[in-house]
Amino acid sequence: MSYRKTLLGASCSLCVHSLRALLAFSLCCFISGYSEKDRAHNLLSKYPVIDGHNDLALRLRIHYNNQLSKINLTHLTRVATDISRLRAGHVQTQMFAVYVLCGAQHMDAVRLTLEQIDVIRRICTEYPDFELVTSTQELRDSMTKGKIACLISIEGGHSIDSSLPALRMFYQLGVRSMSLTHSCNTPWYSKEHAVSKHHISYTSNNSLTTFGKAVVDEMNRLGMIVDLSHTSFETASAVLNHSKAPVIFSHSSSYMICNNPRNVPDWLLQELKDNRGLIMVNFYSPFISCQKKATVSHLADHFDYIKGFIGAKSIGIGGDFDGGTSFPVGLEDVSKYPVIVQELLKRNWTEEDLADVLRNNFLRVFEEVEKVRNELSWKKPSEEEIPLTEVANKCRLELKQPIIPSNQSPSLKAKGHNLLFLALALLFYFFP
Ligand SMILES: *[C@@H]1O[C@H](CO)[C@@H](O)[C@H](O)[C@H]1NC(C)=O
Ligand SMILES: *[C@@H]1O[C@H](CO)[C@@H](O)[C@H](O)[C@H]1NC(C)=O
Ligand SMILES: *[C@@H]1O[C@H](CO)[C@@H](O)[C@H](O)[C@H]1NC(C)=O
Ligand SMILES: *[C@@H]1O[C@H](CO)[C@@H](O)[C@H](O)[C@H]1NC(C)=O
Ligand SMILES: [Zn+2]
Repeated sequence: MSYRKTLLGASCSLCVHSLRALLAFSLCCFISGYSEKDRAHNLLSKYPVIDGHNDLALRLRIHYNNQLSKINLTHLTRVATDISRLRAGHVQTQMFAVYVLCGAQHMDAVRLTLEQIDVIRRICTEYPDFELVTSTQELRDSMTKGKIACLISIEGGHSIDSSLPALRMFYQLGVRSMSLTHSCNTPWYSKEHAVSKHHISYTSNNSLTTFGKAVVDEMNRLGMIVDLSHTSFETASAVLNHSKAPVIFSHSSSYMICNNPRNVPDWLLQELKDNRGLIMVNFYSPFISCQKKATVSHLADHFDYIKGFIGAKSIGIGGDFDGGTSFPVGLEDVSKYPVIVQELLKRNWTEEDLADVLRNNFLRVFEEVEKVRNELSWKKPSEEEIPLTEVANKCRLELKQPIIPSNQSPSLKAKGHNLLFLALALLFYFFP
């Protein structure tokens, strides 16, 4: 604003004739109109976006059954994410979510999780624009190479079926973050766009059970970022107290600005700041305006408020594109990140603040997670198991040596008789 006024004043004081004044006026408007846009693009070229949450993989399953041979990700109109729009939006790193619906819990969640990891690994290795990364070093290198880095995150602890070995194998496949829970009332299923139900894994008192703590410990040991988006406030608080490494909310906004339970209240933001963690602001309209529709200004209010409360060093970006369907006017897809940067520049955000929010904060958190992993390298993989009473899962098979009681059951006796009969039959066959 003030920039425009100064330019206008300076050049108009120079002109005498009205025609020249008019010319200068339109030139001023031209220059100032573009300058903020240019500033945003220049800034984004230096500090391209690291985004914490994107649900393209879920859309690929829903629309195309993961058949990549049928599509070209350079241009894909049915979704909000494709390579050309990621490029236009200056997205350098995308954390792609592996989300399998809560309906898969206690059923085939682990298989579906593997299949979604497979599709992300495929897009990130088959398209030369992408590169799958698993460390901060690889992430930085990918920028030098001009690649879009892919990070894999699991959304919802139900994906590991309460198994630390499963968690470790997901790490081996490249997963570097996991949110502990998911709300089963997903935005694209619920009629009211209300997320009222929260599924709290591993809890019976809204906190963290012993096994829940073991999951957090194991993630700390592995170097997997703990994600608290979708957890209840109490669970989030318990994790913040327990985790040795900083955590993230990969796609959540301010509860003070919009009191949706997917957002983070001030008392938790304070705990998050103490943990040196990050809130990566969600763009989804119902979470930012508490209504079906929203504007860029609504979204900027979340950034402003959180910066005012805990500072820009605790903020990141988690667009949630392809998760929901209603995004603010002007921010409909992954090409639109410059629009919010422009708005924040207008609101006097410094380039340093924006560089932090766009990428430096996430890199710092991820580096600290790696540092904690290095410090815990003396630890052996955890053998903590969830008590069977806590997993109501009919599909669980106990892979243990069957215990055959000394007084054999009738069925075992019957089997014994059958074997004897078979042996006799064979004997008579060969030696009639
Ligand atoms: C996708 O389309 C682009 C051009 O839009 C083309 O260069 C590229 O080869 C195509 N990729 C595949 C896998 O077909
Ligand atoms: C309830 O939460 C506390 C921690 O606040 C934990 O020690 C306890 O084990 C939990 N109880 C159950 C039944 O999970
Ligand atoms: C976490 O610690 C804070 C104090 O640092 C405490 O007020 C809060 O109750 C704790 N939360 C849980 C769930 O234990
Ligand atoms: C930005 O800063 C200028 C000068 O410091 C001030 O006049 C203006 O009101 C500020 N704008 C906002 C939106 O805070
Ligand atoms: Zn989500």
